[in-house]
Amino acid sequence: MSDAVLSQFKQAEEKKEDRTDKKVRIGVIGTGGISWVHFYQYAKMNDVEIVALADLEPWKAYERIEQFNLGPDVRVYSSDKELLDNEPDLDGVSICTYHRQHAAPTINALEHGVNVLLEKPFTVTLDEAVEVCRAEKRTGKFVSVGFQPRFDPNMKMIKKIVESGALGEIYYIQTGGGRRRGIPGGTFIEDSTAGIGAIGDIGSYSLDMVLNAIGYPKPLTITGYTSDFFGKDPKYNGEDAARFSVDDFGAAFVRLEGGIILDFRISWAMHPDTPGDTIIFGKEGALRIPSTDCWNGSVGGPMILYHDLCGEQAETVVPLIEEEDSNFFKKVRSFVDAIKTGGPAPVPTSQNVIKQAIIDGIVRSAKLGREIEVNIPEI
Ligand SMILES: NC(=O)c1ccc[n+]([C@@H]2O[C@H](COP(=O)([O-])OP(=O)(O)OC[C@H]3O[C@@H](n4cnc5c(N)ncnc54)[C@H](O)[C@@H]3O)[C@@H](O)[C@H]2O)c1
Repeated sequence: MSDAVLSQFKQAEEKKEDRTDKKVRIGVIGTGGISWVHFYQYAKMNDVEIVALADLEPWKAYERIEQFNLGPDVRVYSSDKELLDNEPDLDGVSICTYHRQHAAPTINALEHGVNVLLEKPFTVTLDEAVEVCRAEKRTGKFVSVGFQPRFDPNMKMIKKIVESGALGEIYYIQTGGGRRRGIPGGTFIEDSTAGIGAIGDIGSYSLDMVLNAIGYPKPLTITGYTSDFFGKDPKYNGEDAARFSVDDFGAAFVRLEGGIILDFRISWAMHPDTPGDTIIFGKEGALRIPSTDCWNGSVGGPMILYHDLCGEQAETVVPLIEEEDSNFFKKVRSFVDAIKTGGPAPVPTSQNVIKQAIIDGIVRSAKLGREIEVNIPEI
């Protein structure tokens, strides 16, 4: 083989190596509480480079640079817009802003050709969710929604059990979770920053747990209820009661496509210890998924499968599974891997828009005091 031909091979090999070695360039928008976890996970990955941070209060970004020893070359901006306008080479951004600032920065990132790992809940309203999905379609970039329980082996087991047919046809699901006292503070409790309370914060975990297991059927009608008795009461919520302007409890009766009924309750604060475990009722069996004291979307103990065995009623205990890598690591790593392979998103918006339609429907129905119909616009 001639030298010229050999050197062509060499060039091709070198190019390939270059591509493999290229670090994934990440920006972080919103450097408050949860961003810490994103920085912590990215720091474990030697194929990731954090290049820029943005926060409306830039001191928080400087604090992260120091905490994670990110170095003097990392740029700090005072908004998502400023970061995206000045960083043309980003591969992805973590968006860790409060709920009311989920949709606009996500659409902005997509329009700049940047993939997004967006913290939960997906958005506040259904309209916002639809706009994000449309931006994704328009730009060809992707959004993965930051539901770390999706990566939990026990959560995956729920889906496996449903898909195995062990429960038969599913007709009714009760789901939710709650805390006797567990109202967060900060930006979670004001309408101007959060827009929705418990139903979005922890309710989105309960909905994702069961909807993901049954393949995300669309909601048809919703009767929803929300209240704020604990959040607004200084006896339970101290000084934060004065600024509390979202829900602390929500419940709903949702008719899903395929004739499935979803009975949902979620609570940041209440008198009982739980609004009930999650139970999936099927014609051949039922699955009980124990709740946790401080509901955060994880399976609270061994699950129980109720079924008939040789004509007798039987119960099968499904032991908890533990894995070495944390669900948070897997959520962030799966985003980086998806960037490298050009998608698809590990936790896609096509599912999250359905969940958001339910949350939006609960809010609308609660305001109107009656059942409402749900129509998800064409994306
Ligand atoms: N996955 C989880 O387990 C988990 C845990 C906690 C919070 N979260 C979610 O993460 C989000 C943020 O929560 P948090 O506790 O970190 O809130 P936070 O208020 O501590 O931080 C949000 C930050 O975003 C900044 N910000 C808002 N809009 C911005 C914009 N346009 N550009 C740049 N910065 C902007 C704010 O200044 C603030 O510092 C929430 O939506 C919450 O639901 C997820």
